[in-house]
Amino acid sequence: MIQRIAIVGCGLIGSSWATWFSSKGLPTRMYDIDPEVCRRGAQWACDNLRTMVELEFFPPSELAAALSNVQPVATLDAVLMDCDYVQESVLEDYQTKAEVYRSLERHLSPNAIIASSSSGLLMTKMQQALKHPERSLIAHPFNPPHLVPLVELVPGEFSSPETVAVVKAFFQQHGKRPVVLNKEVPGHIANRLAAAVWREALALLDDDVASLEDIDAALCTGPGMRWALMGQHLIYELGGGQQGYQGFFDGIGRSFSSYWQDMQTWTEIPESVRVKAIAGTESLLKERTRDEWARWRDEKLVRLLQILED
Ligand SMILES: NC(=O)c1ccc[n+]([C@@H]2O[C@H](COP(=O)([O-])OP(=O)(O)OC[C@H]3O[C@@H](n4cnc5c(N)ncnc54)[C@H](O)[C@@H]3O)[C@@H](O)[C@H]2O)c1
Repeated sequence: MIQRIAIVGCGLIGSSWATWFSSKGLPTRMYDIDPEVCRRGAQWACDNLRTMVELEFFPPSELAAALSNVQPVATLDAVLMDCDYVQESVLEDYQTKAEVYRSLERHLSPNAIIASSSSGLLMTKMQQALKHPERSLIAHPFNPPHLVPLVELVPGEFSSPETVAVVKAFFQQHGKRPVVLNKEVPGHIANRLAAAVWREALALLDDDVASLEDIDAALCTGPGMRWALMGQHLIYELGGGQQGYQGFFDGIGRSFSSYWQDMQTWTEIPESVRVKAIAGTESLLKERTRDEWARWRDEKLVRLLQILED
């Protein structure tokens, strides 16, 4: 049974995870190699919990208990003591993950589960650093994990089916939407889909088809509206009218070939495109600061979740 949580790496994702675990009544210790980041991450987690109460997304009567679940600690030894489940959220590179995994196992009970937040690395490669790889897997959240329901569970070659089953049941029990991959691929599912959209959003900007604001607006006031409700397959099932998905493939779906033929196939983003895209967000940051945009996003996400829960 998963009851005591250790967060290792308290940046953007680790601190949001800490918010989520502590809001579920689970004692959550936090550790970062940088003590200042650990302190700030715990502060973010507590701020997030208070915001959830303000947004009527978390009961005020449970706030004090949730805040007391957030426990920053100074050493790896302390974060791992008696813990059942580690949510590793350190930098996205194989070398850092391997170093962390080797140190984790020096302090951790052999039964404790190690879950990585990795956005797109391969678990089989990461778990080679472990003596007990069977208790490890990827549990990839979507930012911010304390609000977005998705968690992608990706077993590596050495992950045991029991580990996957226990972690899946745990997330289901606490209201997340776990999806389990049958095989590992770089970027899992959601980030591969996001990568395809992002490349095209950059290509449209590079080609001066529209402004950065209009490209983003086309996405979020069009397909994005439906994506919160249903995925691409069901959307196009409905898009085919009475003939359903078959009708879509045989009808409008045929014209997609001409779009694909015209679309970018970059596997690296050109430097000029990177510079143009970053400059293009300047006007958005005049409208609101980055922190104000994040707060705006979280408020709207909470309302959306409330609608979807209905
Ligand atoms: N940023 C996102 O949108 C997002 C979304 C989902 C998953 N992720 C994944 O979550 C993980 C963390 O990403 P992030 O955006 O929070 O990065 P981040 O840079 O904000 O945080 C990473 C933290 O790891 C710490 N760290 C580095 N080495 C460490 C060590 N040896 N021991 C303890 N702490 C150590 C760093 O000090 C830093 O605070 C990555 O694997 C990333 O792919 C990121």
